[in-house]
Amino acid sequence: MSENWIKVAAIGDVEADDVIAVDANGQEIALYNVDGTYYASSNICTHQYARLSEGFVIDGVIECPLHQGRFDIASGKPKGAPVHVPLCMFPVKVENGSIHVLIAPAQASSCVKAGQ
Ligand code: FES
Repeated sequence: MSENWIKVAAIGDVEADDVIAVDANGQEIALYNVDGTYYASSNICTHQYARLSEGFVIDGVIECPLHQGRFDIASGKPKGAPVHVPLCMFPVKVENGSIHVLIAPAQASSCVKAGQ
């Protein structure tokens, strides 16, 4: 499988305990900074259509802005109702002050879309 690391942001674009929306070749990504460690997930909640980048990061958990569903940022696992389906997560690396996300074509297409 071919690997496809995509530069999505610079260090400093996303502050500690915050989340921003970035685009990786058309894939909407939520990019998190949890105590200086970066994580990337699909930006769309697995419950209904809401952008997680408009939610809140609290103690390593992202809270969806629409129905307050919560996911563990490191694993993408749901923390309880109303969310039951994990987030699609993407590997992240930091190189030369830039943040890169690995988008594998098979993984991107298998990401759960809103409402499924
Ligand atoms: S859309 Fe995210 S919890 Fe409902």
